[in-house]
Amino acid sequence: MESYEIKEHDVLVIGAGGAGLRAAIEASAQGVSVGLVCKSLLGKAHTVMAEGGMAASLGNTDPRDNWEVHFRDTIRGGKNLNNWRMVEIFCREAAERVAELEEWGALFDRTKEGLIAQRNFGGHRYPRLAHVGDRTGLELIRTLQNHGIHQGIDIYMECCIVELLKEEGRVCGAFGFWRESGQFVVFRAKSVVLATGGLGKIFRVTSNSWEGTGDGHALAYRAGAELTDMEFVQFHPTGMVWPPSVQGILVTEGVRGEGGVLKNSEGRRFMFDYIPDTFAAETSDTEEEASRWLSGDPEARRPPELLTRDVVARAIRSERLAGRGSPHGGAFLDIAGQRNAELIKRKLPSMYHQFKKLGNLDITTTPMEVGPTCHYMMGGVRVEPETTMSTVEGLFAAGEVAGGLHGANRLGGNSLTDLLVFGTRAGFHAAKYSREQSDTIEPSKQLLKKLEKLALEPFDPERTENPYGLMADLQETMELHTGIIRESDEMEKGIELLQALKIRGERLHVEGNRQYNPAWHYALDLRNMLCVAETITLAALKREESRGGHTREDFPESSDSLQKVNTFIREVNGRMIHEHREREPMPEYLKKLMNLPLKEG
Ligand code: FUM
Repeated sequence: MESYEIKEHDVLVIGAGGAGLRAAIEASAQGVSVGLVCKSLLGKAHTVMAEGGMAASLGNTDPRDNWEVHFRDTIRGGKNLNNWRMVEIFCREAAERVAELEEWGALFDRTKEGLIAQRNFGGHRYPRLAHVGDRTGLELIRTLQNHGIHQGIDIYMECCIVELLKEEGRVCGAFGFWRESGQFVVFRAKSVVLATGGLGKIFRVTSNSWEGTGDGHALAYRAGAELTDMEFVQFHPTGMVWPPSVQGILVTEGVRGEGGVLKNSEGRRFMFDYIPDTFAAETSDTEEEASRWLSGDPEARRPPELLTRDVVARAIRSERLAGRGSPHGGAFLDIAGQRNAELIKRKLPSMYHQFKKLGNLDITTTPMEVGPTCHYMMGGVRVEPETTMSTVEGLFAAGEVAGGLHGANRLGGNSLTDLLVFGTRAGFHAAKYSREQSDTIEPSKQLLKKLEKLALEPFDPERTENPYGLMADLQETMELHTGIIRESDEMEKGIELLQALKIRGERLHVEGNRQYNPAWHYALDLRNMLCVAETITLAALKREESRGGHTREDFPESSDSLQKVNTFIREVNGRMIHEHREREPMPEYLKKLMNLPLKEG
């Protein structure tokens, strides 16, 4: 057994995107010692892919907005599957967190009156997204980083976590390695916050970059924590489709929020054909407004391009399958015909440069080609809403890795504020928990030895499986068998294929040594990816209905009885156990908000 570098903290935060940074800042503000682990370099996080803004009912652009309308929109967007207490906390605290970010230096776009400007986004009743052009996530990270580096947080970059350490039923740290040297490191901690983001890399077309391999979901699962609603994966309707090397890169919903429209190859604005029957009635305040919208009135207040993401992604796919797609298999997103070049460059500078540089296309004159891309995971670690503690003692989770807030479908813009609201809570409660523990538990030598052996197995020369090949096969399996549209036979086949991939996963082989060896890093990532792929497919197979991000060809309707239940998955004696459990009913004071008589003026 080699000797390990040992780092000791009260609170260890794993993941340094928005949620991790915010959690670390808060824990540190509570006076405890904090370590922050990033798989990549600090600042390189999927948070920056939430470009269009952060949702908070500031009421700056429309004074009728308030937390109650935000609550209603979020539950409706999540198709009633959300943990209502998380949504309540989120909507009540969002504005305060945005104001705090501004105090810490975030430079938001402004209204003429000098207030934080807010833009339209899908499923939000009023313009609600505080934004910084189309670089809001980047500004959030920049601000938190600048603030965080003065808080005495120890930051560990380019460090991968292989496993959480757990003794006496409590999490007591994590075992990892430095990507550069390949040397192992043991983090001892009284509490751990998972803030590892999502798992988009299990799909071939994704807005996630290489880090998004479901690490936190898998670490929590293997530590015995319960995962919830893993069937709900969000495909953002607009990713780049051309050229192939950039397929999946996000085209912000902000383009549609600023007036961009979707057209098919016949030049038709097709989204009017995909408004769900019940949608206008459910979301309009008056019958007149509902019928204006349904009649396809282009001046109607909420353009159909801003229906929720699940609806728009399916519509683009249907147009393509009907032979009305764009040349490279997407749809056309046209802002050039709607807004002048000056506004486009001012409000969407990144999109302008992204298409110029990567696609050789000027979006101020030419429509973009876009198509669905795996963007976000609604499902995740089940947490207690007030504290964000998981079902494992001492293990907390915040941001995309945590489940419950977004239900069956997340509204765009709700993730950045989620990171701030629950990142803050996670940091606070992890610090509180750590102060309540008399001492850090020492992980046993036996446990460390076992993890060392496991991490080094891919160097065994007897093994033959190539990690890159396995990764490609996994992505194809997920895309074909548990993608945007699902069906029972396909998913059953998907489960079989995943079992075969898992067996291949036990034979992964890498050449060379431990110094900066990406094949080895992939081999270890694959362990997590295979685990989360299985949870998603199992949960999707068992939910026999269509709801939000989960669409079943064989069960196209939503089921009244399944509306009451959430999915839970956990490991028991090495087996993956799936359960549907009824949610606690929403209390009357919140139920009332679902039919708000909206205040005018
Ligand atoms: O389209 C976007 O800008 C993404 C935002 C989000 O996912 O919240």
